[in-house]
Amino acid sequence: MNVLILGSGGRENAIAWKLKQSVLINDIFVAPGNPGTDLIAINLSVGVNDFDKIAETVKENKIDMLIVGPEDPLVNGITDYFRSKPDYSNLKIIGPSKDAAQLEGSKDFAKEFMNKYKIPTARYFTAKKDNFNQAVEFMGSLKPPYVLKADGLAAGKGVLIIENYDTALIELDNMLSGKFGDASSKVVIEEFLDGVELSVFAVTDGKDYVLLPEAKDYKRIGENNTGLNTGGMGAVSPVPFFNNEFKTKVIEKIVKPTIFGLESEKMDYVGFVFIGLINVNGEPYVIEYNVRMGDPETEVVLLRLKTDFAKILDAACNKNLQNIKVEFENDAAATVMIVSGGYPEEYEKNKEILGLDYNGQSVLFHAGTKKDGDKTLTNGGRVLAVSSLGKDIFSALNQSYKTIKNISFDKMNYRHDIGFDLK
Ligand code: AMP
Ligand code: GLY
Repeated sequence: MNVLILGSGGRENAIAWKLKQSVLINDIFVAPGNPGTDLIAINLSVGVNDFDKIAETVKENKIDMLIVGPEDPLVNGITDYFRSKPDYSNLKIIGPSKDAAQLEGSKDFAKEFMNKYKIPTARYFTAKKDNFNQAVEFMGSLKPPYVLKADGLAAGKGVLIIENYDTALIELDNMLSGKFGDASSKVVIEEFLDGVELSVFAVTDGKDYVLLPEAKDYKRIGENNTGLNTGGMGAVSPVPFFNNEFKTKVIEKIVKPTIFGLESEKMDYVGFVFIGLINVNGEPYVIEYNVRMGDPETEVVLLRLKTDFAKILDAACNKNLQNIKVEFENDAAATVMIVSGGYPEEYEKNKEILGLDYNGQSVLFHAGTKKDGDKTLTNGGRVLAVSSLGKDIFSALNQSYKTIKNISFDKMNYRHDIGFDLK
């Protein structure tokens, strides 16, 4: 098979790296890719939302399978686009239809879905300009802090958690008045859930599913989980509290009803279901759905996947997942993100990265880098994901931190405490 992966981050680098090990794969193309994917695959300078150009590329390169990395093209309907073209009826696509992608693209849609299929999640109310009084009443029934979520995609910035009631009301008004543009014309107000988060990943063919290794990501910029939210500063897998008892609850109360819901709603869903969960006193609740893999979770999940990844994805496309058994490595995996100084606020780009040749026992996944002749320069907030395996998550983390010692660029930053809460 020839595959085309859409995207340009650490996640896509990890997907390309894993598929490179598959017996089913001939050529791997990545659009637009990055210098990391350029080392193992063929980069094509095509944007992830340029559907016509992607279609040309698919034809030109005899692509058998399209794997959509980020959520944007899915929410914009890339799967429906190809499904509406008879010429592409044989193209296998990993990524749900536009309707199903609303599970990530609209918080209100996701909450309604969860309520309908009795999937545990925080109590909520969807505020709009014309029901402000009811929204205020609902807020009054909650204890602080108040969770306000822009309904639509807001580049990871659309969730506000606010201690003070009056401030929360002002922010609610700001959001409904366009603080996040159209994305906040509706705002989901939620009860705050106090617990520890983790990410669970399923691959589904729309009726069956297999689970990939679970992971925990570290979203805050600062040590001890302080400061602003980022795309993710590191991740580990396995997650110690995802023991058999908790896992069984997650499968019975969340994963199975979710897949049942997708099938019942007749959603065209072949791809990843990323369930953001929170463990509240031993009970799992859904914080959010994503219709793609996580970043940086993929950079640990795929290190721990023993089964041929392409076989899993191919079985999903052939609606044959019930015959697939997924095996994980016994080893643990960790990834530490190296970021540009200043990120997630303003930061500088174009810093030369030194030490990329000495990755020891780790795998370096590129996230925000670019080439300038022989040099590799920084080109984003998140720059490199340094991933390692080890006999437990702390050995894996030690290995990543050892590797990072060899890497440097001006104003480089990373968290020194990934996994700190799991000791
Ligand atoms: P989301 O985009 O829905 O994943 O929200 C972003 C982050 O906000 C989550 O990863 C949580 O850390 C936090 N969060 C969202 N909803 C809640 C909630 N109901 N209770 C507590 N924290 C939340
Ligand atoms: N790491 C969280 C995400 O990919 O959304």
